[in-house]
Amino acid sequence: MPIPQVDYAGFAETFDKTRSLAEAKQILWRRLFEKHLGLNAASRLLDVGCGTGRFSTLIAQQFKCAVVGIDPSASMLAKAKAKCYNGVEWTIGRAEAMPFADGVFDACLASQVIHHFQDQRRAFAEMYRVLAWEGRLGIRHSSHAQLETILDYRFFPSALQIDLERLPDIGVLKDLMHTCGFRLVTEHVVCQQLFESADDYLAKLRSKYASVLSLISKEEYQKGLNEAEAYFETQQLHKDDKYACITFLVGAKTDDQAPPSQQEINDPDVFSITSNRTTANCPSRSHKPHPRSSFPRSG
Ligand SMILES: C[S@@+](CC[C@H](N)C(=O)[O-])C[C@H]1O[C@@H](n2cnc3c(N)ncnc32)[C@H](O)[C@@H]1O
Repeated sequence: MPIPQVDYAGFAETFDKTRSLAEAKQILWRRLFEKHLGLNAASRLLDVGCGTGRFSTLIAQQFKCAVVGIDPSASMLAKAKAKCYNGVEWTIGRAEAMPFADGVFDACLASQVIHHFQDQRRAFAEMYRVLAWEGRLGIRHSSHAQLETILDYRFFPSALQIDLERLPDIGVLKDLMHTCGFRLVTEHVVCQQLFESADDYLAKLRSKYASVLSLISKEEYQKGLNEAEAYFETQQLHKDDKYACITFLVGAKTDDQAPPSQQEINDPDVFSITSNRTTANCPSRSHKPHPRSSFPRSG
């Protein structure tokens, strides 16, 4: 199935505002990058599909290491460059054919981007190629179970189907990593805040903060937005709908047959692929989020 193309020119203006990295998120991701990607001041990190450089600049600032961000969207890169952060080098290009020599990076980050790759296998092979031996690949990506908990789909039902088709589930990603030579090291489920309030949620919907909202029909978008606006005239945003989980999957360019290191075995955060543990999903919610029937849908 062809991957639907999203034109990020339309997102560049609002992207940082609608996906801001609040301090709590910065601390959380810094800790995960340090621990699982092994980042330090000597690291060379490649941010694949860096967009406006949310993570590239965070990593360069926090670790004082060399960072390169690559993205095919000139508009997203223009926003990244405008941050004037000297520690990052920006390159226009696609994950499937990157203009870098073999083995020049210690870590690659692919954050919420896998579903945009036209050829995922080629992109994974490229990330493997540019990593040094024992380099790490970190992927921020939503599993299907994690997607299904997100509020948007209750107002825009066909968006869920589109996302389930375009986002590979975590098991598929693990297979892809394995096929391309990576040893899977860590599968970490992170719960993070998406929305602060009903007003914040509605503002994000109005700016089509999620790329899938540009893939549904204009009619469905308008209908869902009207329903959300009407619904939140009388309702608060439920606390469970403020949060969603995302998976942080880490692979290593190392001997696939190598057993997990003692450090990995001792680490409660590490789910080694060799132990065949299943994907952890979101922690169970204290209540079932509003059933769709509770929304004022006209059918
Ligand atoms: C949802 S944004 C994520 C940006 C950034 N990684 C972040 O988490 O803030 C997806 C980005 O993927 C980029 N993208 C689309 N196709 C790509 C490809 N084939 N290779 C690399 N990046 C791509 C888009 O231009 C866009 O900037």
